[in-house]
Amino acid sequence: MASFSEINSQALEALETHCNNFVECEGFTEQMFADKAIELLGHVEAFRESDIDEKHEFGEGLTYAAPYVSDRMVVLAMFMQPGASIDAHDHHGFAGVMRVIQGQVEVHNFTLIDGGCTNDEFNIKSGSRSLVAQGQYSAILSDDSNIHQVTAGERGAIFLDVYVMVEERGRSDFFEFLRTETDGQITARVKASVGIPE
Ligand SMILES: [Fe+2]
Repeated sequence: MASFSEINSQALEALETHCNNFVECEGFTEQMFADKAIELLGHVEAFRESDIDEKHEFGEGLTYAAPYVSDRMVVLAMFMQPGASIDAHDHHGFAGVMRVIQGQVEVHNFTLIDGGCTNDEFNIKSGSRSLVAQGQYSAILSDDSNIHQVTAGERGAIFLDVYVMVEERGRSDFFEFLRTETDGQITARVKASVGIPE
């Protein structure tokens, strides 16, 4: 049986070249990276779960696999049961694009306020919510799309992420919400920090 990497070798090679260019070429903005990565992810063929060898638990109703990992690029596949949710988290040292390949997800973005961390607590504010359906995309950049929560629709969802490492190896901090003020400001703290697979 062909592996994910074998099936998608040309598309993955093009993505890897694109990631290297993004990191090494001056004047290459994150938005430029995202636009092209979206196009290139579209060339990754629809795959069956059986093409992926090893999956890992990632909370209730969530499993993921990292079918392609290199120094600078990681492709993740996330499998979400109906209604399952990936808690709000940020993205340190990496940028990326997610492409939904089955079902749909709601992406809820948050923005940092007050410059971020005080006494291990952060103040964040709820931002846009968007539905991302099969074949659609959402970017993970270092602007106000950097913190998000992802919730699967009633039929569940599978999505692919491509991440490019901008600084060494990236990581995501996952938040728990402590309280919400009447003006919508949320006080949160980090409950877990997860590194990008190596
Ligand atoms: Fe994320």
